[in-house]
Amino acid sequence: MAEMDSTVKGVLFDLDGVVVFTDKYHYLGWKKVADDNGWNFDEEVNHGCRGVPRLASLQVILDHNKVELSQEEKERFADKKNEVYKELLKQINAEDVYPGVIPFLEKLRNAGIKMAICSSSKNATTVLDALDLTSFFGAVITGNDIEKPKPDPEIFLKGAASLGLTSDECIVFEDAESGVQAAHAAGMKCIGVGEAAHLPSAKTCITDYASVMIPVQTP
Ligand code: BG6
Ligand code: MG
Repeated sequence: MAEMDSTVKGVLFDLDGVVVFTDKYHYLGWKKVADDNGWNFDEEVNHGCRGVPRLASLQVILDHNKVELSQEEKERFADKKNEVYKELLKQINAEDVYPGVIPFLEKLRNAGIKMAICSSSKNATTVLDALDLTSFFGAVITGNDIEKPKPDPEIFLKGAASLGLTSDECIVFEDAESGVQAAHAAGMKCIGVGEAAHLPSAKTCITDYASVMIPVQTP
C-alpha cells in the first residue's frame, strides 16, 4: 500500500511505462535498429533507456556494445528508431493503457487533485490524444519543452509551475531511475512504478494503482 498525504495537491505523471505501456514500443523500435546492426540489446539494457531522450538512449546501446559512431550516424539511427516507434504507435489502443490508471485518474480528479504529464518523449501528445487521455491533465510537458533531460529536475519543476503548485505540494509517479532522481532533485516525493530492483532511489514502488491511497482534500 502506498499513501499520498494530505499535503499533495498535484500529481505529476511520467507517461511511457507509467500511464501507457508505450515502453514496449520504444523497446521494439530500438530492438529493430540493434538487430539490423548486429548490436546486443535486451530488456536489461532497455532499463537504462527508460526516461532517457532518444539520442542518449542510443548512446546507452552503443556504450553497451562498445560501438563508436559519428554524430551524423547517431542522428540517422535515432531517426530510424523514431520512424519504427511512430509506425508502432498507429496500433496503440485502450489495451496499452496501464491497468487501473484510468480509475486512478478519475479518483484524483474527483478529489480535486491537479494532474500533469511530464514526459521526456517528443511523441507524448500524440500518444495522449490517440488514447483520449489529454483532458485529465492540466499541463503536458514533453521533451519539446525542456532543455535538460531527467535526472535534471527541469521537467518536474515546469510541470508543478504549470499547475500553479510548489514542489512540496506535488508527488511524481515514475518508472525510470533517472526520473525518480529528477523528482527528488526537484524536491518532490516520488512513487516508483515497477519492480523496486530497477528503481533503487524510489522509497516506495507500486505495480497496481489500486494500492495507492489518495488524500481527502480539506476545503
Ligand atoms: C521516454 C522513454 O519517455 O521518452 C524513453 O522512456 C524515450 O525510452 C524517451 O527514449 C524519448 O522519446 P521520443 O518519443 O521522443 O523518442
Ligand atoms: Mg517512463
